[in-house]
Amino acid sequence: MDVAVIGCGYVGLVTATCLASIGHTVRGVEKDQRKLAKLREGHCPIFEPGLASLMQEQIAAGNLSFGDSVREAIQEAEVVFLAVGTPPKPDGTVDMSFLEAAGREVCDALADAPPDYLITIVIKSTVPAGTNRKLYYYLRQHSTIEFQVVSNPEFLKEGSAVNDFLEPDRIVIGGESPEAFRVMRRLYDPLITSEDVFLTMNWESAELTKYAANAMLAARISFMNEMSILCDAYGADIEDIRKGIGSDSRIGPAFLRAGVGFGGSCFPKDVAALQHISASVGHENLFVGAIQRINGEQKRRFVERISAKLGRPLKDATIAVWGLAFKADTDDIRESPAIDVIRYLLEGEARVRAHDYKAMENMKQIFGDQVEWVNDPVACAAGADAVAVLTDWPQYNTLPFRKVSATMNQPVIFDGRNCLQRDVMRENGFQYYPIGRPALESPLRLRNGYRVAAAEK
Ligand code: UGA
Repeated sequence: MDVAVIGCGYVGLVTATCLASIGHTVRGVEKDQRKLAKLREGHCPIFEPGLASLMQEQIAAGNLSFGDSVREAIQEAEVVFLAVGTPPKPDGTVDMSFLEAAGREVCDALADAPPDYLITIVIKSTVPAGTNRKLYYYLRQHSTIEFQVVSNPEFLKEGSAVNDFLEPDRIVIGGESPEAFRVMRRLYDPLITSEDVFLTMNWESAELTKYAANAMLAARISFMNEMSILCDAYGADIEDIRKGIGSDSRIGPAFLRAGVGFGGSCFPKDVAALQHISASVGHENLFVGAIQRINGEQKRRFVERISAKLGRPLKDATIAVWGLAFKADTDDIRESPAIDVIRYLLEGEARVRAHDYKAMENMKQIFGDQVEWVNDPVACAAGADAVAVLTDWPQYNTLPFRKVSATMNQPVIFDGRNCLQRDVMRENGFQYYPIGRPALESPLRLRNGYRVAAAEK
């Protein structure tokens, strides 16, 4: 089928590339000229495993192309995806201006289309309930052509986006006509391994499904983070609890990892938006309020723990931060817990050094020379009073910990992702503080520090 994708940001680019890879002819529209030039040369502007090679392959095969004109892109299109950003406004409500502008542009471009031309307009962006209906009535007022509007929220995760798209748990289609469902069924046919995967519903249900999914996942994380406080207080282990409840098939094991809090461009934004969506119908959503509050406090609590267990004042201590991205396998730092943690450390007048495998350049935009940026995690830790692990990059697990321990001022690690191995920590003489798990508190071996190890007294 001929497909246009308007907006080649994260979701748009993955959608365009993956639809091309299953046999459609896809034209992507990107207004940012620098980004467009990159895309046309086959350079993927974001870090996403597997995306660049698939994109290059599809451009070379002639299935995928990019331009800046909506009019040109939709000339032959049967399906037009709107995949522009719907960022949060400062008050937490959703900024719909990009989507409205894209809708208007599509509408203008369709003004000259023959009246029997049927086009399916799909909102891929995450939008508040009622948006698809509004778009439908807006287009009906301003256009003479045959069209249908479909809500098709995206559930892909950064870092595994290509796989998530090509092997979906489910494809949610919100629409108001059997023809709309038929078109979308045809579009996604190669990905539909069983009929349970293809879920059709009305516009509002599809729109709310997206918010409900993200809020539910965020709730699981916040719930476990709150449980981790009890684990610390009672000497229980959150990992055992995770296994203990995750093995119940009604609960399942995913998204139950406690840590320093969730981040990213989706969970914080969508949870905040759900609160506003609730408020706009006069309902105070207590549940999502709690999710947010626990997540905010988790980061502050992490720094308070560092301060309490460091064995010296935080002021003038050197803290090495390992991991800046909001999760591994991405350079994305949007709403990353590392931002708040570094801010609190700086407020406590600690000296902060930081390392990440992909996200250092992005974080430099926020903290500039308030933080020392170090390209190698071992060098970052050398001379530090503690390491704070904030992203679960798997590479951190295989570092030469004997060397890390020997070169730190005091071998102390606060593991905000519970991603390091306890045995390795013990063998290398670390004081180790995971989240919601028993700490390893061996006597400190300090170089220039405040405490003296028992054996050296
Ligand atoms: C999330 C959803 O998982 C996707 O299904 C959804 O499509 C996407 O938002 C979106 O709305 O676009 P993403 O933001 O890429 O995907 O990242 P996740 O893998 O969900 O992780 C979000 C945050 O939760 C990260 O900071 C991660 O470290 C944290 N997390 C995740 C935990 O703290 N514990 C867990 O058990 C899992």
